Amino acid sequence: MMASESAQPLQGMSDIASPEIYLWQFLEQRARTSFHQYGYTEVRTPLLERKNVFVRSLGDGTDVVQKEMYAFEDRGGREIALRPEGTAGTIRHLLGKGMEGRNDRVFYMGPMFRCERPQAGRKRQFHQIGVEAASEPNAILDAECIEMQMRLMECWGLSGCELQLNTRGVGEDKQHVVDGLKLALSNTIASMCDDCRSRYDQNTLRILDCKKESCRAIIADLPPVTDFMAEETRAYLQEVTSVLDLYGVVYKLNPLLVRGLDYYEHTVWEITHPSLGAQDALAGGGRYRIQYGKDAFEGVGFAMGVERVCMALTSIGITGEQHKPSMQIALISLGERALKENAVLCRTLRREGFSCIMETTHRSMKAQMRSANRHDVKLALIRGDDELNRGTCLIKQMNEGSQQEVSLDVLIQQLRELTGTDS
Ligand code: HAM
Repeated sequence: MMASESAQPLQGMSDIASPEIYLWQFLEQRARTSFHQYGYTEVRTPLLERKNVFVRSLGDGTDVVQKEMYAFEDRGGREIALRPEGTAGTIRHLLGKGMEGRNDRVFYMGPMFRCERPQAGRKRQFHQIGVEAASEPNAILDAECIEMQMRLMECWGLSGCELQLNTRGVGEDKQHVVDGLKLALSNTIASMCDDCRSRYDQNTLRILDCKKESCRAIIADLPPVTDFMAEETRAYLQEVTSVLDLYGVVYKLNPLLVRGLDYYEHTVWEITHPSLGAQDALAGGGRYRIQYGKDAFEGVGFAMGVERVCMALTSIGITGEQHKPSMQIALISLGERALKENAVLCRTLRREGFSCIMETTHRSMKAQMRSANRHDVKLALIRGDDELNRGTCLIKQMNEGSQQEVSLDVLIQQLRELTGTDS
């Protein structure tokens, strides 16, 4: 009855289900453990915020705010938006906590929304796992944040990542970088693409992001942005790299790394993976300063794109199937009486800590065994009228096919031994 189109989610959005979901669950569980080890607690902010929360934080000239945000008026005429990223809402939350929030370290995971043109690795609903640590500029914390991220990827088994590092500068550096780049480009800008030419006056830094071959050659000859920055800014970056060296974290300084959001100052970084092609950024992060009226909020953090992490893991042979939780027991019922008795036994076994499934309608033994195989169970417990009369149960070990009849009195103890399940 359902037309095929109406059974699909919106373009650029996906259902995430078995077996892929097992990889997601593993990533999330491992991330929770890691973040806890570093003293971060979880925060879940609303998916909808006042539009201004994002415009103020990310910058109204950014692509995310100008072209990609799902922003609309709600029924009360309020300007609201679906969150395109996690930092702005998290900082709004921390600001609301007053002084306590100025010292907090939090992590989040969940969906973000950007109305971009969908392609491989670029979705309209995607998911981030991210952290934010409130703090004034502090090179050790910046390096620790990067180290935590690299460690998490190691725990996920994600090898082959590359960490690129740069600085966005602070205070007057930003204007000096714009002025310096404009001067350095003054003779060549006329030969660059339309996008670069229009960025020259409005958003000079983004010229460094241009992917066009002919522009890349010109960009590669530019002096590094750090040449236009103050000595103290360069010293801060140097301190971050020296701590990374102590941690043994491998990085590549990339003076062309810009990042697309306005709130950054000082350290910025991106993590790429060769399997991702054009959309090769797995994760991005950096130190930021967000102005709220007279108040400014400073911190450092990162966000990883879960879809892209999954793509990278799949490319190196790590899949959801490998993280599928095992099912221990299937109850097989021969006859009406056994069906009801097994329903009760199933409940008991679950309360004893076993994972246990059974068919709740009357089906042939063959069909029930097929279903048990589909769930890849370790043991099948078979009962018919004979076993019920004797107060016993047949235990079949699915991998070797061996079978034994045990009394119900010792069943749970026997199952514990066979499955290695504690009480
Ligand atoms: P971002 O670089 O915009 O940074 O996004 C972080 C990651 O989210 C990207 O590296 C990518 O893996 C993933 N991502 C972004 N857009 C899409 C999309 N359309 N489809 C699939 N994945 C996507 C931020 O969002 C900052 N809030 C990170 C941050 C936290 N900086 C400081 N604290």
